[in-house]
Amino acid sequence: MDVNGSAAIISGGASGLGEATARELARQGATVVIADLNEERGKAVADELGGVFARTDVSDQDQVRAAVDAAVATGRPLRVVVNSAGIGWAERTVNRDGNPHNPDSYRKVIEVNLIGTFNLMSIAAAAIARTDPADADGQRGVVINTASVAALEGQTGQLAYSASKGGIVGMTVPAARDLAAIGVRVNTICPGIIDTPIYGFSGNAEEFKAKLVAPVVFPKRMGRADEFAQLVLSLVRNDYMNAEVIRFDGGIRFQPK
Ligand SMILES: NC(=O)c1ccc[n+]([C@@H]2O[C@H](COP(=O)([O-])OP(=O)(O)OC[C@H]3O[C@@H](n4cnc5c(N)ncnc54)[C@H](O)[C@@H]3O)[C@@H](O)[C@H]2O)c1
Repeated sequence: MDVNGSAAIISGGASGLGEATARELARQGATVVIADLNEERGKAVADELGGVFARTDVSDQDQVRAAVDAAVATGRPLRVVVNSAGIGWAERTVNRDGNPHNPDSYRKVIEVNLIGTFNLMSIAAAAIARTDPADADGQRGVVINTASVAALEGQTGQLAYSASKGGIVGMTVPAARDLAAIGVRVNTICPGIIDTPIYGFSGNAEEFKAKLVAPVVFPKRMGRADEFAQLVLSLVRNDYMNAEVIRFDGGIRFQPK
């Protein structure tokens, strides 16, 4: 799929992996729509890239619909959907004080990470279905979801996060099967430890990141957001990549803690 001249919608495009992806897709000639809660950053990135900002809480279907409408309104065919909005959460199934996991925080993580991904994937795919096929295969578009290696080997305290990301992994094959009828491919990336603002910027954050990097196999460092963006671009460009879940993690396998 050639992205040049098409529209691409990126949730979480105001920061980190989504921002790097928006930059790469814009460099390849796509008109990017940044769907993010962060108005200030999102607008700045969209303006810089000649794209559109749509203030969006991905867990809200109406707001996602408005963001997809904004992508359609660019006048370019919507071809690329990248789900990168997400939040982290650390809480044990039973806390150290003996209380069970807070159900509200569990629900919130599922709503943003899992239902948010479902919302944008399904609503954007319905819009993609209304475009003309882009090639002789009948292809119309590509969805790239962002899960996490925590979907596969969640650490202690990752109950809610791993459940949300595991749900994204679980949706990959049935979504690809459903969307084949409209010529849309679906792939999911499971990043390991990638250096983005998600870890914060404090001295503690640096210490925390150093600890996270220790089990990385090679190269012995955090991944970079631009490396993630390259993988997204490869998956978008390679028409035979479909229904796949790909680790992007320097070989890391998470230990229990
Ligand atoms: N950085 C990593 O090491 C890593 C590893 C595994 C998975 N991930 C996943 O990658 C994705 C991107 O993470 P990142 O590291 O770029 O984080 P980030 O914090 O830099 O960016 C996340 C973006 O999502 C936006 N966002 C949060 N909640 C939202 C909502 N309800 N609606 C719309 N936008 C919302 C934020 O405003 C922010 O711009 C997340 O889903 C995260 O779980 C990241």
